[in-house]
Amino acid sequence: MRPMARTAWVGFAFALVAAGGPDPRGWTVGTPAANLPVVLAGQSLPPIALPKNVAVKRPTLLVYFSPRCSHCRHVAAEIQGLATRIATQGDVLWIASASADSSEIEEFRKTYAISSPIVHDADAEIAGAMGARSTPSALLVTPGAKAGRVDVLDAWLPYVPGYDFLVEARLAGDPFTLFRPREFLGDNACGSCHGLELESWQLTHHSIAWWTLVDDGKAADPACNRCHVTGAGVTGGFDGNLESNLVNVGCEACHGPGGPHDGTRDDPRAACAACHDAAHSIAFSVEKGLPHLDHYAASALGTVARAEARRKLAAGQAPRPLLAFPQGKTLGSAACQACHPEEVASWSSTAHAAAMGDLKREGSDDPGCLRCHATALRSGPPPTDPREFRVAESVSCESCHGPADAHVSSGAPIEGLGEDCPVCVIEAVCTTCHTPTWDPDWALAPALQVISHHRKP
Ligand code: HEC
Ligand code: HEC
Ligand code: HEC
Ligand code: HEC
Ligand code: HEC
Ligand code: HEC
Ligand code: HEC
Ligand code: HEC
Repeated sequence: MRPMARTAWVGFAFALVAAGGPDPRGWTVGTPAANLPVVLAGQSLPPIALPKNVAVKRPTLLVYFSPRCSHCRHVAAEIQGLATRIATQGDVLWIASASADSSEIEEFRKTYAISSPIVHDADAEIAGAMGARSTPSALLVTPGAKAGRVDVLDAWLPYVPGYDFLVEARLAGDPFTLFRPREFLGDNACGSCHGLELESWQLTHHSIAWWTLVDDGKAADPACNRCHVTGAGVTGGFDGNLESNLVNVGCEACHGPGGPHDGTRDDPRAACAACHDAAHSIAFSVEKGLPHLDHYAASALGTVARAEARRKLAAGQAPRPLLAFPQGKTLGSAACQACHPEEVASWSSTAHAAAMGDLKREGSDDPGCLRCHATALRSGPPPTDPREFRVAESVSCESCHGPADAHVSSGAPIEGLGEDCPVCVIEAVCTTCHTPTWDPDWALAPALQVISHHRKP
């Protein structure tokens, strides 16, 4: 065999070092704060000409808005706060869209205690000059070198919650001076520098945790939302305001307010347990969870694949890897009879005990059907061989409670799905099979009554 050329070896070794080798967390390799240069230097934009009624004497944030637009109302308090903070360096000027009337503008000013001037852009001239097509949009401008024109320092079209940080960053020059101890900034501020981390986070269940509650009609319930938001119960964190930009389990839920940049470094691994407690996450461990938080996952996916992953998350079809039961063999319901005769009797009379009947009538032993109509011989990914299912059992005890091998042989605990197990786990167990495709009218509470071991015959 011919020895590999020396240069090839060097190139190979260099590639390994450059990539840092495989990440022990199971993450794709990436560059933290890849967007920092963009935040520091801004975009280079041409100067614009504003109508005469807009006087720009020093750096000014032009905010194009409509008093009726809910997105504008959502960011109004944030921008008013910004105006106060930047008062020594610059101004805010609100530009009301052509369709606004004076009473609406007055109502907006009063409601959000706006202290900056508001001009009415009656003929849409200012919006045209700004290049703004939707509200809210914002441009940071400053007196220009050319007469009749202003320089554009940065543009946010559209403006979203948390961008006040970016406006200040542009004015301050050094954004790191802006982190105040224990102040929450929201995901958009972190994402301005940590773009890839933000895009990857958007592929995780944490990014839709709030919307799960909205779907359940539980968003306003503090007993639920404390674990489905960022910073509940912490000063400056989520305070019950349903319009807050701290909904969902964001960066600062794990990294603490301001991340490490406010001078306090929180260990993100220590944060998990407060939410992933025994009642809400089956057999959770940080090591099991970390590979599913890959902060650079987005870099390995194209735009189409990312959009598809987001769609699956929103539709409740994304895999839920944590929900896997502990490793082990299943035994079948006969092994439970001696100690749990009542549960065996009640289960025998449910549709679950007969789920193979319907399938057999269809003449199918397709493993793709068996995974929901029969019980696998062991936990883990569904088998692809029909012989690895307990077909005679249909959907039996261990489809819901997990493998009972250790429970029977050594009395180990087993998932009880009882009252101390909130909907988080039960719903997720049931919906591994009761998917929108197979059970479009699924509702947890009535379904639980139908299959309860304690129901009246
Ligand atoms: C102005 C840009 C900027 C913003 C905004 C920003 N970061 Fe960073 N962050 C950086 C830079 C630069 C590094 C260092 C990267 C490196 O290792 O070279 C970093 C590193 C980190 C690290 C890892 C390094 C460590 O010391 O632990 C974490 C975690 C982090 N940031 C979290 C956050 C969070 C959370 C937010 C939002 C509250 C945030 N960052 C906002 C620029 C930023
Ligand atoms: C503020 C509460 C909170 C914190 C802190 C938190 N999580 Fe979560 N996590 C959740 C919620 C709520 C969900 C479910 C969201 C949904 O699907 O609606 C979730 C879902 C997940 C999932 C996907 C669900 C599954 O079944 O596979 C993983 C993986 C995960 N978390 C890992 C972690 C790890 C690891 C940590 C710590 C580094 C952590 N989480 C910290 C609340 C939290
Ligand atoms: C102590 C923290 C905590 C509380 C309180 C909490 N949850 Fe959860 N919830 C979680 C965690 C963690 C997960 C992810 C579990 C997993 O996948 O391992 C989750 C998952 C869920 C899921 C499944 C998400 C999915 O992808 O289908 C639903 C639904 C849910 N929670 C609803 C609720 C409701 C409703 C309440 C209030 C009755 C509530 N949660 C209270 C922590 C909590
Ligand atoms: C569910 C918890 C969780 C959330 C949410 C989360 N992170 Fe992390 N983050 C972690 C953990 C855990 C680590 C790894 C720490 C370690 O290696 O010890 C980490 C590491 C990092 C690092 C260091 C990078 C590296 O490669 O080691 C940065 C930067 C970072 N996070 C930024 C962010 C940003 C920005 C967001 C929001 C878009 C975010 N994180 C959301 C848990 C989280
Ligand atoms: C030798 C007797 C014995 C056998 C056989 C047995 N169990 Fe149990 N099981 C118990 C006892 C005792 C408890 C109550 C104590 C406890 O909570 O651990 C229990 C509790 C349970 C619970 C409730 C756990 C909780 O936390 O609420 C479930 C679920 C369960 N068993 C399932 C099964 C299944 C499924 C089988 C058959 C594959 C089985 N058991 C076989 C003795 C047995
Ligand atoms: C993801 C889980 C899942 C898979 C995979 C699955 N089923 Fe089902 N199936 C269900 C559930 C849940 C029900 C009960 C729906 C209800 O009654 O609301 C059901 C009900 C049925 C029924 C009786 C009710 C009806 O729709 O008439 C038949 C027949 C059936 N399935 C056949 C099949 C066949 C054939 C396959 C394979 C091609 C299959 N199933 C794959 C979950 C699944
Ligand atoms: C479709 C899912 C499902 C199947 C299949 C199932 N269970 Fe359960 N089991 C539950 C739920 C949910 C609970 C919580 C209490 C309740 O609502 O009945 C529970 C509770 C239990 C308990 C705790 C004590 C009690 O009765 O509340 C035991 C023991 C138990 N099951 C054993 C079994 C055995 C043995 C089998 C098989 C013969 C079985 N289960 C099949 C869902 C299931
Ligand atoms: C392993 C897959 C699986 C799991 C897990 C599962 N089911 Fe089912 N379920 C089925 C199948 C398949 C059927 C349809 C049986 C048939 O008629 O062919 C069914 C039927 C039912 C039915 C009767 C049909 C209906 O829609 O009225 C109810 C009620 C039900 N399941 C409730 C639950 C509840 C509650 C849970 C969680 C505690 C659960 N199931 C967990 C697969 C599952």
